[in-house]
Amino acid sequence: MPHYPGRIDSKLPNVGTTIFTVMSRLALEHNAINLSQGFPDFDCDQKLRDLLTKAINSGLNQYPPMAGIQILRERIGEKMQNLYGTAYDPEHEITVVPGATYGIFTAVAAFIRPGDEVILFEPTYDCHQPAVETAGGKPVFVPLEAPDYHVDWAKFQAAITPRTKMVIVNTPHNPTGTVMSAEDMRTMESILRGTDIVVVSDEVYEHIVFDGHAHQSATRFPGLAERTLFVSSFGKTYHVTGWKMGYVCAPKELMVEFRKVHQFNAFVSNAPVQYAFADYMLDPGPYLELSHFYQKKRDLFREGIAGSRFRLMPSRGTFFQCVGYEAITDERDTDLAIRLTKERGVASIPVSVFYHVPRYDKVLRFCFAKKDETLLRGVEILCKI
Ligand SMILES: Cc1ncc(COP(=O)(O)O)c(C=O)c1O
Repeated sequence: MPHYPGRIDSKLPNVGTTIFTVMSRLALEHNAINLSQGFPDFDCDQKLRDLLTKAINSGLNQYPPMAGIQILRERIGEKMQNLYGTAYDPEHEITVVPGATYGIFTAVAAFIRPGDEVILFEPTYDCHQPAVETAGGKPVFVPLEAPDYHVDWAKFQAAITPRTKMVIVNTPHNPTGTVMSAEDMRTMESILRGTDIVVVSDEVYEHIVFDGHAHQSATRFPGLAERTLFVSSFGKTYHVTGWKMGYVCAPKELMVEFRKVHQFNAFVSNAPVQYAFADYMLDPGPYLELSHFYQKKRDLFREGIAGSRFRLMPSRGTFFQCVGYEAITDERDTDLAIRLTKERGVASIPVSVFYHVPRYDKVLRFCFAKKDETLLRGVEILCKI
């Protein structure tokens, strides 16, 4: 094996293997129930698999257009209009991308220069900070306030400086399952009015909002939509996280810059998958029913562990449930997550890893995007702890 003999000045000195990979690997090694990483343990709709097979067998296997196939962009445009009341021109304002992570990374690369400040809410989904740092940007953290992880907008306002170029917002929020209200969005809209600050709105869980609430997309609010790159993920919506496909919607002025980077990065997204989604999207049922589908799983999981020593925290969206374990042990969440996987056979994610300086608040995150039988097996173990 060759070895690089020089010195490496890492752009991401503090980044190792992500906790998701670590916990999933550990779960596999110890044959544990994996409630850690955020992906379903059930398969996607047979119809979607058939559509992909059909596209591949029809020879739709070469480079598609850089922005995505026209028909898929049109369907996305119709959906955005129907759901959020905002018109995006498929020609200039919608781009299909190989996953939301890629969409976020590309948006940051397109707008952030060394020294630019980017506001992140903390705890922060793990790909946001490295995207900023790789571009030479400076992450500025605004805490989500315990116990319900709401935003203190005065702190947000105080974090803005003349160097602030971007805000990355994520609602519904991973890892906490909190959601932004319409009032939150209006407050952010009024704070950002008159600035040149661009918003990257990570809305991959847009279709997983519970208890009858509507998802408050940044694109619903004109003063936000005009400065927002909206990012969604087909993976989360259609139970196909391994297909790595998403899309970005933004005003033309922002999309021009986004596409400049995209065309020299991935250039295009997987062609047959796009044809499959274009057909599948004709039926809005699967995404309109998704909140209900996951709410049943959330409730099953919550009811199951309600009698345990874990403290249930709110889960208003996403497929994550956070729990406090202060009644059980003083251990750090990272130690406990590893021990529960090895000794008890159930894997979770320690929430401290979502902070730039770990905060040991004694909170674990469980993913309930699992078959009911998996959840019930997990519940049985957790109730004995
Ligand atoms: C908040 C958030 N953003 C983005 C992603 C990544 O989405 P994709 O798999 O489409 O890149 C995830 C996946 O867990 C997520 O939780």
